[in-house]
Amino acid sequence: MKGIVLAGGSGSRLAPLTNTTSKQLLPVYDKPMVYYPLATLMDLGIKEVLIISTPRDLPNIEALFGDGNQFGLTITYRIQSAPNGIAECFLIADDFIDEPVCLILGDNIFILREELLQLRRFVQEPLDTAAILLCQVQDPERFGVANCDEKGRVVKLEEKPCTPTSNLASVGLYFYPADVLDKARQLKPSARGELEITDLNNIYLQENRLNALRMTESSLWLDAGTPDSLLQASVEVEHEIREHGNPVGYLEVLALRRGLISETSFEALVTSLKPGTPYREKLRQLAFGRDA
Ligand code: DAU
Repeated sequence: MKGIVLAGGSGSRLAPLTNTTSKQLLPVYDKPMVYYPLATLMDLGIKEVLIISTPRDLPNIEALFGDGNQFGLTITYRIQSAPNGIAECFLIADDFIDEPVCLILGDNIFILREELLQLRRFVQEPLDTAAILLCQVQDPERFGVANCDEKGRVVKLEEKPCTPTSNLASVGLYFYPADVLDKARQLKPSARGELEITDLNNIYLQENRLNALRMTESSLWLDAGTPDSLLQASVEVEHEIREHGNPVGYLEVLALRRGLISETSFEALVTSLKPGTPYREKLRQLAFGRDA
């Protein structure tokens, strides 16, 4: 399975922070936001990734990761010329999608626990069905929301409903079979002029090919798209690292743990950072439990 990180959009809810830079390059604790979705893909076992962003921001994201070889990944890049909707990413990625694909939104941060094994299985043994994750939220009107029947089965997904019928939000991590491109081609722009990911998911739902998994309470999902949620994301990430030693978003440590790079290559990444740099110290502590 390949991966797509969608890291464009206007970031207007974070203005003026985003007036001159991309939302996905803003800091979440000690790394740019886009590190986290890339780390999630890596943690799921995905090695070939396409990053999509705006003409303004893509060069800066590319400057961060290059071809991804230092993390044992293959990363390529494409431009979305205007924020025409999340589902447009599949049209932009057309010839990249020659196998099942996982899409993650560039402002979504996950700390996955119980569902990690199941999601890794989706990646290793992809099915002919799509899969989405649902998470209980206080403010469902901000998200894609699942309407469920009396047995709790999802019957419809609605994008930002004024009066949500459940508090189950569809999070920004999606798994699709390779026919996602055909489905994306069928989409028409919504009333707000976007190719909606929710419309795409409804197509799979109508075909009885949508798996909707509920996130467990052990896991955490943070959408860092507003000033408050951006702040909360930093606090939660710092807490997770300090309290649990979980290397959230540390691509170097994940690459080492998943056997994508050797210990020598990891050392080279660490020593490329100046001695005394907090990030350098964190890398060694999280990888080996010792200081830089
Ligand atoms: O975070 C989960 C939610 O993400 C889902 O529940 C919704 O169904 C889904 O529509 C989306 O809602 P948002 O309002 O959060 O979408 P937003 O416009 O903020 O875009 C999400 C990410 O995708 C963000 O990193 C920007 C990027 N994006 C968005 C659009 C519309 C693009 O790169 N290009 C685009 O055209």
